Amino acid sequence: MFKRVLAPRSTRGLTLAGAAALFCLTTVTTVLAQPAAIHERIGQGDSRIDYDSTSYRSDSKSLASLTGEAFDLIALFESAPLGLPPLLDAQHLDPGIVSLGRRLFFDRRLSFNGTLSCAMCHIPEQGFTQHELSTPVGIEGRFVKRNAPALYNVVYRQRLFHDGRENSLARQIWGPLLARNEMGNPSVGSVLNRLAETGEYAADFVAAFDTDINMLTLGQALAEYQRALLSADSPFDRWYYGGESAAVEATVKRGFTLFMDNDCVSCHQLDDNGALFADGGFHDTGVGYIDAVLRKQKARKREPHRLQVAPGVFIDVDTDVVPPRPSDLGRYEATGISADRWKYSTPSLRNVAITAPYMHNGAFVSLAAVIEFYAMGGEPHEGQDERIRARDFSAQDKADLVAFLEALTGSNVDALAADARIAPIGDF
Ligand code: HEC
Ligand code: HEC
Repeated sequence: MFKRVLAPRSTRGLTLAGAAALFCLTTVTTVLAQPAAIHERIGQGDSRIDYDSTSYRSDSKSLASLTGEAFDLIALFESAPLGLPPLLDAQHLDPGIVSLGRRLFFDRRLSFNGTLSCAMCHIPEQGFTQHELSTPVGIEGRFVKRNAPALYNVVYRQRLFHDGRENSLARQIWGPLLARNEMGNPSVGSVLNRLAETGEYAADFVAAFDTDINMLTLGQALAEYQRALLSADSPFDRWYYGGESAAVEATVKRGFTLFMDNDCVSCHQLDDNGALFADGGFHDTGVGYIDAVLRKQKARKREPHRLQVAPGVFIDVDTDVVPPRPSDLGRYEATGISADRWKYSTPSLRNVAITAPYMHNGAFVSLAAVIEFYAMGGEPHEGQDERIRARDFSAQDKADLVAFLEALTGSNVDALAADARIAPIGDF
């Protein structure tokens, strides 16, 4: 049954080679793959498409070649770009705190061994996520079980993480900071001490908050920067909300009609006030179920592991070289309610063309693959949302849906990436 969805084992690889990441790679390459015909590169930065071929060439740019250019985040926030709903209660940004947050976002000293910053999993040039990996590599090459979400418009999200277990940006930071497999810090105090010892932040914290770096102010600073990452005014917005008929092609308009007529909009919502293309809810689309069943099948079979060590270079290893992939029960992990198993947060579709790979586990590398999945109706099982069901999309319909999704890229994504790079990389 799964043959419909799953390509042969490990046909899709990842662009991050090297021994440190190997443990992670072997596990992530076994998640869902996508139709072989899809070869287009996605967005800015690198892509892992074609990594299984020896002709693969990286699109990565060296850090040194990236030059920063400030963008007025305060003005952006004051008059949210076309297509975003108005922000609830009067919210303002403090320029000093935004710039403090931006510096911290790039500071590798936030991790236990000084190697990993927030920006290394949420890469500005890659849509504040990572194109190369289904799921990111944490400290010392450790496995992280979920895909890094893009951070655009995160200020609108009431529940954070794919399972919605956190409800404030200021508190959310302690998730990655303290996770053993992400930034690996042993305690709150150790993070605060390390930052204090750099001697680089104390004065700015006092200036911004009238107090020193503490558990709350560190969270507030990082949150302030992320709140500023608004992005909309896409071709779709200019057409739909701006009334510019020529802003998008006919294919986008047809794709939007399909989106409205096939229940997509009931979860990825919009209204006259604006569009987040999300509903703040959690749903079982079948992705978590497929992943779970696949994991069980694999455990039963004890298949040899296929490791990819470089573009197009695989080796088969028949001993257990990777720890078993942890289970992922979705929203259940935040609520303990059995009906919440395999439900995941509805992601916003804004900027989706530049935030591959997709779904909570990074299962699909392209939008065409996501549409293929919806056309098949997920993988029917008890609990799957009834709106996810087989749809009779023609090839043209699928292309139109993809064109619509591609029209959701905001006009300022390059500016936000350039702005991010004005921050120094904080290092020992
Ligand atoms: C090792 C990679 C990694 C690092 C480092 C990392 N993140 Fe994340 N981030 C993730 C992953 C993976 C998730 C989703 C986790 C989940 O759903 O359980 C996530 C989720 C988030 C979310 C929730 C977004 C949403 O829409 O729900 C925010 C906000 C966030 N990270 C900000 C940060 C900040 C700030 C830092 C630095 C303090 C940071 N991240 C460091 C990988 C990382
Ligand atoms: C029942 C609610 C629901 C419906 C209906 C629905 N989606 Fe989704 N969509 C979700 C959820 C939940 C996810 C995330 C699943 C996960 O993380 O495993 C998602 C993920 C996506 C993604 C990937 C976004 C990302 O950043 O990973 C795209 C693209 C998408 N949906 C498009 C569509 C389209 C097009 C339709 C209509 C054919 C549709 N959705 C119908 C709930 C829904």
